[in-house]
Amino acid sequence: MRELCVAVVGATGAVGREMIRVLDEGRIPVGKLVPVASERSAGRTVSFAGREVPVMRIDEGDFPRWTEGVDLALFSAGAEVSRRYGPLAAGAGAVVIDNSSAFRMEKGVPLVVPEVNANAALDRPRGIIANPNCSTIQLVVALKPLHDVAGLGRVVVSTYQAISGAGARAVAEMEDQARDWASGRPPIARVLPYPILFNLLFHDVKEGSDTEEETKLVRETRRILGLEDLKITATCVRVPVQVGHSEAVNVEFLRPISAAQARAALAAAPGIQVLDDPGERRYPLPRDIAGTDAVYVGRVREDPSAPGALNLWVVADNLRKGAALNAVQIARFLLDQGSL
Ligand code: A2P
Repeated sequence: MRELCVAVVGATGAVGREMIRVLDEGRIPVGKLVPVASERSAGRTVSFAGREVPVMRIDEGDFPRWTEGVDLALFSAGAEVSRRYGPLAAGAGAVVIDNSSAFRMEKGVPLVVPEVNANAALDRPRGIIANPNCSTIQLVVALKPLHDVAGLGRVVVSTYQAISGAGARAVAEMEDQARDWASGRPPIARVLPYPILFNLLFHDVKEGSDTEEETKLVRETRRILGLEDLKITATCVRVPVQVGHSEAVNVEFLRPISAAQARAALAAAPGIQVLDDPGERRYPLPRDIAGTDAVYVGRVREDPSAPGALNLWVVADNLRKGAALNAVQIARFLLDQGSL
């Protein structure tokens, strides 16, 4: 099989580093890796395939030189960088898979989770495919098999999102706060608006009363499932967990479904592992699943307050399935379809 030249834009970030790790696992054949970041990373290298590869500056040369010969460009350096450089990389012939929010709701840019709507990735007139928000990915993977069996009526989701979703600097900040606390010093917040240690935070509100994260989760879920009118509401919370987003999900259905039927449908679905034996204290925990690939579902139980409704607990590694792994799985699908 042809070996690809793959650029990772944002190579020094929390998601970018995970992208390089996932590529190093050999899921797609990579002949050359081109790590790209800002001028802040000048002189840095990243480890790939047992070698140290120098990081390129995104603005090197008149036209970004790093796009030359690139087959696949994985972007995770924020929406502004994607808006500016994504179309340039696509224009230079690369397939762009963008982990930022820049293009997720745009026409002509498919928003893809392979377990749910893989074929959408084949129709990409702008050469760009959007990777959904981390909380959205694990939610739609869990909802899809239940929708196929019983039809989604209404979804109420509360998220418990790990700090790594806010980037490498936010993780370092929480670790500094833990050291400060242990030394009797007050925790200081510079990256996030308030200390995250022993605390819970919300994302920012840009318009209306939902936070941006809540709006993304609602809109992206509807788009990926192809259910424009789905009744869905979200409350998104940042929690002091390093890696692994968790979601408490309450779902009302259009047709009857028992907890046992739901568990069976989930267990048979791609990308899902059911971990559901609360009597034995078996349920998905972010600490346990960090570094793994599946979306884990547990605490599947009937909701006595609403006939036919179920409660679920859904946990996944936000850096892997929530970002890097999903992007590389899209690339794998394109290769298998002869579309990359
Ligand atoms: P750098 O380390 O050089 O700042 P995170 O999400 O963990 O904060 O990481 C963000 C990633 O995006 C980093 O690799 C960062 O590179 C990169 N990045 C941020 N801003 C820019 C920019 N303006 N141009 C290129 N890369 C950027």
